[in-house]
This record gives sequence, C-alpha cells and structure tokens, in this order.
Amino acid sequence: MITQTVPGQLTVLPGIACEADSTETVPLTEERSFGFWQQDIPQQYLALEPREIIERIRIARQKLGERLIVLGHHYQREDIIQFADFKGDSFKLAQWAVEHEESEFIVFCGVHFMAEAADILSAPHQRVVLPNMAAGCSMADMADPEDVYAAWDELEEAGVAKDTMPITYMNSAASLKAFVGERGGAVCTSSNAPKVLKWAFERKKRVLFFPDQHLGRNTGIKMGVSLDEMPLWNYRLPFGSLGGTTQEDLERSRVLLWQGHCSVHQRFTVDQINEARERGAQVVVHPECRAEVVEAADSDGSTEFIVRSVSESPPGSIWGIGTEINLVSRLAKENPDKTVFCLDPVVCPCSTMYRVHPAYLSWVIEALADGEVVNQIKVPDDDKRWAKVALDRMLEII
Ligand code: 13P
Ligand code: SF4
Repeated sequence: MITQTVPGQLTVLPGIACEADSTETVPLTEERSFGFWQQDIPQQYLALEPREIIERIRIARQKLGERLIVLGHHYQREDIIQFADFKGDSFKLAQWAVEHEESEFIVFCGVHFMAEAADILSAPHQRVVLPNMAAGCSMADMADPEDVYAAWDELEEAGVAKDTMPITYMNSAASLKAFVGERGGAVCTSSNAPKVLKWAFERKKRVLFFPDQHLGRNTGIKMGVSLDEMPLWNYRLPFGSLGGTTQEDLERSRVLLWQGHCSVHQRFTVDQINEARERGAQVVVHPECRAEVVEAADSDGSTEFIVRSVSESPPGSIWGIGTEINLVSRLAKENPDKTVFCLDPVVCPCSTMYRVHPAYLSWVIEALADGEVVNQIKVPDDDKRWAKVALDRMLEII
C-alpha cells in the first residue's frame, strides 16, 4: 500500500483531542466505507510548488473552458476556494447541481456525500469528480447502512416503524438517502431541517433522524418536542437491544435520534460563548453543536446562514462563531470592518474537507483537460433512483 503525507497549511496544536491533523497519513489505495478505490495521485503532483500548481490549474481550465465548473463548500481551504466558480452550503450546492446543466464536468471541492448528491441531482451527461476520494465525513460514517437497516428491522419488530418517517441528514451515504426515499422519507440539510421535520410530522407520528443527534435534537427543540420524546439510539449496541432504548421510550418518542455527531462542532462550549460575550460579541453557531451551545448562542444556522449573518451585519460588529475554522478565517478576511473570531481558541479544521489539497485539484483538472476522468463519483443506478426521490422531496419542501 502506498501512503503519502498531505502537506498542510494550518497549524494544528499538538496533543489535543482534535480530529484534524495537517500531517496525517492518508492511504491512497484504501477501500473506504463508501465502497470504491482511491486512484493513486501521480507522485510528481506532490512535489509541485504552490505557484506551479496555480499555473497548471489555470492552463488546464483555459483548455476546458465552459466544459468545467468548480464548486466549493464553505469549509474548503483558501487555496482551494480561490478556484471555485460557485461556493455555498450543502443545500445551495445541491440546488446548483439541479439548475445547471451546461457544464460537462463538475469538480466538487467538498466531501464525498456532497459530490454524491451532485451526481444524483445533475443531468445524465454531467460527470462529477471529487479531487481526493479520501475526503469523506466522519459523521456520515457513523451511520453505516447495515446499522441503519438493522435498526429499522428492530423498529418493525417493535411495531413502531409504521408510524415512523425516516429522515436522513445530507451528511450520509447515497444508499441511505435511497433507503429513506423508498420508505416515504426525505433528506434534510442544516438549512431546512425544521421544514422537513414539519413535513414529516404532518405524515407520521415520529421521525427516525440520522446520523447527527445534535441537528435532530436542536430541530426537535425548536419545534416544541420535549427531550424525553427524543431518545437516543446507540447503533453500537448489539441487535435486539433497541439501541439502548425501551419499548416505552420508542412508543412515546417523536424524534428518535441516531447517536452520531460531528467532532468539529461538538468541541464548542457554553463557556466559550460566555467568553465571547465578554469581548462584546454576538454569537452564531452551526446546529451540529450541542443543544446547550445552540441555546446559549444568539442564533444558529447552516454555513450559508452564518456567511449571511456576518456579511449583512453593520460595520463594527463583533462576531464569535461556532463552526469550522477555514470558514471563520475567510469571514474575518472578507469583513475587515468587523471583528470575527472562532469560539474555540484551539484551531480544529475539518480534517476530511482538508484532504482536498491543491495538488489533487490540479491532478484531476489536468486529467480532464487530457481527456481522462479520474476520481469520478458515480452512484449506482439502484441507489440513484430512490436517493433522487428523497432529495427531490427535500427540494420541494418550502
Ligand atoms: P452545511 O449544510 O451548513 O453546509 O453543513 C455541512 C456540514 O458538513 C457542516 O459540518
Ligand atoms: Fe462532516 Fe463535521 Fe466535516 Fe461537516 S465538519 S464534513 S459534519 S466531519
């Protein structure tokens, strides 16, 4: 197995419990949980100087012209986002894929589940490329499809599945989007979770929400669901344990929460919010943060909401932000008339987003310019059909 060290930019303080590691070793030929193989990046790309990379990307893009579009999620590093034709949160990028049929190649600078959504929603002639196949999402990996199928079987045996609407967060494998689509459910993102839950409650008594317990709980609280109506399903327990709940818990439940989380957002604390307030800041956080953090903040919302909140605020505003550091640093740079800082003084980027390195971007774009498609994201047709149903339902819920 070939391994390589991805050159880092951000300094991650050593010795902290942080998912990110700017010098982590990424196996290039390891089979990922989403079932495909990483194609090896030619070694020459790893030796390129930043200036050379920029120039090579520029030349290859010129050659491809309008055949290529580059999409960038807000958490992408600055040296990637500079190449994005369009940036957004996961919802906006999915919408973009539906509305734009013109480009032949969509290079998606984000993580695997986002590129899968683009492949599902884009036109058949469009091809989606993820620069580094190892750019997954640790939260999405907490909902292994086999565990979800087993949980659903248990809910059926317990007699509660018929009153339960499965809702998956966008941060999940395409096969799980297909699973919910086939069972009448929908996808949601952090920007529309309350609308999707309202839609679900109009149809069923309860929701099975996965993989992020925090987004599920925070959304339930906003909709007036009490905490004792939101039991936690521990997917690590053996089959037959009802995920650590009881029959009574299940029957009473309105939102059954999968025990997944985002390690980046779980780091934020109420103490950090109090410290930010002492600096005169208003606080906005992502709803993947714990419930007490969301409750203590002034507002919460998707990455796009956070971008809008800061950019539309008056000059002189002070913002403490609870989300990924690449976005916070960009907001600070783009809003020099405001004070913008991350709530967490110990920088912790999303390590998987960080795997999209400029060397990978230049590799996949140059390959396209040479007529070769590398790292194409291709959701199998069976999954595509039902996953599209679940995504279309989300896009129709307004
Ligand atoms: P958004 O939907 O807000 O872009 O968030 C995606 C994500 O992965 C946050 O951790
Ligand atoms: Fe996944 Fe968290 Fe990274 Fe978002 S920030 S892509 S939820 S690991």
